[in-house]
Amino acid sequence: MPKKVRKVKIFQRAADAPALPETPFKFICYFVNQFRWWYLAIIILEAIHATCGIMLPYAIGEIIRSVTRSPDNSQPILDAIRQPVILFTALSLGEVVFGRSAGLLMTILHPIHRQHIVRSLYAYLQHHSHRYFSSSFAGALAHRIGETSLGVTQTMQMLISEFMSVIIVYIVSTILLYRVYPPLAAFVGLWAVCFISISFWLATRCRIYSRIAAAARSETTGIIVDAITNLTSSRLFARLGFERRYLNEQLRLELKEVRKSNWYSERIRWFQFISAAILKVGTLYYSLSLWNQGAITAADFVVATSLSLLIISEARNLSRRFLEIFEHIGNIANGVLTIIQPHELIDRDKAIAHSITQGKIEFRQVNFSYLEGKQVFQNLSVTIQPGQRVGLVGFSGSGKSTFVNLILRVFDPQSGQIIIDGVDIRDMTQEALHAQISLIPQDPSLFHRTLMENIRYGRLDATDEEVIKAARKAHAHDFIAQIKEGYHSLVGERGVKLSGGQRQRIAIARVILKDAPILILDEATSSLDSITEKAIQDTLDLVMNEKTVIVVAHRLSTIAHLDRILVFDQGRIIEDGTHNQLLAKGGAYYRLWKMQAGGFLPVKANNQNVSELPTR
Ligand SMILES: Nc1ncnc2c1ncn2[C@@H]1O[C@H](COP(=O)(O)OP(=O)(O)OP(=O)(O)O)[C@@H](O)[C@H]1O
Ligand SMILES: [Mg+2]
Repeated sequence: MPKKVRKVKIFQRAADAPALPETPFKFICYFVNQFRWWYLAIIILEAIHATCGIMLPYAIGEIIRSVTRSPDNSQPILDAIRQPVILFTALSLGEVVFGRSAGLLMTILHPIHRQHIVRSLYAYLQHHSHRYFSSSFAGALAHRIGETSLGVTQTMQMLISEFMSVIIVYIVSTILLYRVYPPLAAFVGLWAVCFISISFWLATRCRIYSRIAAAARSETTGIIVDAITNLTSSRLFARLGFERRYLNEQLRLELKEVRKSNWYSERIRWFQFISAAILKVGTLYYSLSLWNQGAITAADFVVATSLSLLIISEARNLSRRFLEIFEHIGNIANGVLTIIQPHELIDRDKAIAHSITQGKIEFRQVNFSYLEGKQVFQNLSVTIQPGQRVGLVGFSGSGKSTFVNLILRVFDPQSGQIIIDGVDIRDMTQEALHAQISLIPQDPSLFHRTLMENIRYGRLDATDEEVIKAARKAHAHDFIAQIKEGYHSLVGERGVKLSGGQRQRIAIARVILKDAPILILDEATSSLDSITEKAIQDTLDLVMNEKTVIVVAHRLSTIAHLDRILVFDQGRIIEDGTHNQLLAKGGAYYRLWKMQAGGFLPVKANNQNVSELPTR
């Protein structure tokens, strides 16, 4: 029989990323450990605070004992009760001082602790691959970072100030009652054990209902957000009423789930009220009968009944607290399991910050596929010489962007090598690689920061004058000057307040500042009108000077003047030469050039390949 192969998860982590634990429990311990002295101090203060609180009925009992004893005594009543009154005052004071000191420490610690967790998770997340981010929602990841960090501090707060104090209250009160009359302690102790166990069990059951209700609420929010995002479409299709009805349907489902969860909570409340009544009435009757039999004194009777009231006030909502802590732990688990995944692309141990001096790019026998079984490149080999300016053409989906992404190491090939200046790019640090290649993508996205900051992203130490100079070269200065706040205006999320062409010009300005030895343009001028493109082309030619350049373009006129053209077809390079050579050859490029008549590539009809297009 073949041996069952166990799939071992290889956990690789970028060297710069913090070594965060991969399970929620270890994750909490890891972060609590970093602030252990703070937590130790808080635990001690909270423990004293809870003990002071539960000792108060004992002090009251002592006062009563002194008062009831004093007639037999020659001692004046005030003298007799002095000590118990001092004890009572000290305990009350202790409750306030220790409780508030613990509160103060928590108030100082929690925001710091939370920020520390956010920082670490963010630093970890930064090293995830493009593939990871393309399969996750950015908003959801940000939300998870927040929830996870909040989860840790809130879990600790609940454990210390809620659960620990309940446990202390139970233990101390059982001891106090044991001193009074052991069976009374047994009664309260047994009650506490049953109450905690049943509360825990109810909370685990309730968790399922509240999780479903929470999911239904999130779904509603998702639908509303989606509808608001697409509100213009709804309006233009006259579908506002339809959208309201669509939401109503979801609200109806949500109501059903929320009701179920609320009914269950209500049942839990019934349990708590009944248990509290049993403890209250039970202790009262039991201690009354004990007093009646002379087994305990009046003072003990007061101690027993006030202890039971105190226990009830502490134990109130215990199930709810269990539920809340489950929720916090669930949030932590959620965040940890999504964010703390192995990093896909990490620098090798021996990776060097190699500096690219010439810019020679070689693909050697490269095999690459995004998904298993759907090969994009098969044994692709090509060399781009230093300083060569190369245009890539081919139908949509032929592999041009993939080619560029492999050079940028957005993905690693399954086999083969990509070599820059004689060094396999996997032997270079990613930081060095990315610092020396500039990319102008088809749809550049900008930060929601000022235009000045967005352009300066190319070189952080550039002066304002240098930024403006770069913007002028990229033909961006004129439109920036027309905006009210000029270089200091914000561009909206991802740059939505700018047109596609304006965004591209900002991206070009950025790259001019970066001045890297390898330049890649992936449809970089596609959003520009012909006149602006023509104007920018001169700048780009200037920027391309003495650099290795790769230009992906559908508009063949933008690449016709380059040193070399590679024609891609279904992941293969089917033609390679200068514009004139390829035209003279009368092959695929020639046919594309003819069909385009100076415009764009035709839309690929009926799955035709470039090589199958009609000849003259
Ligand atoms: N992230 C991805 N996951 C899975 N498949 C992908 C991914 N990106 C691209 N592909 C597939 O890989 C192939 C090559 O795509 P690529 O983006 O390189 O084409 P392209 O030549 O740049 O096209 P276009 O001219 O439209 O930009 C296509 O079949 C495409 O569907
Ligand atoms: Mg592309």
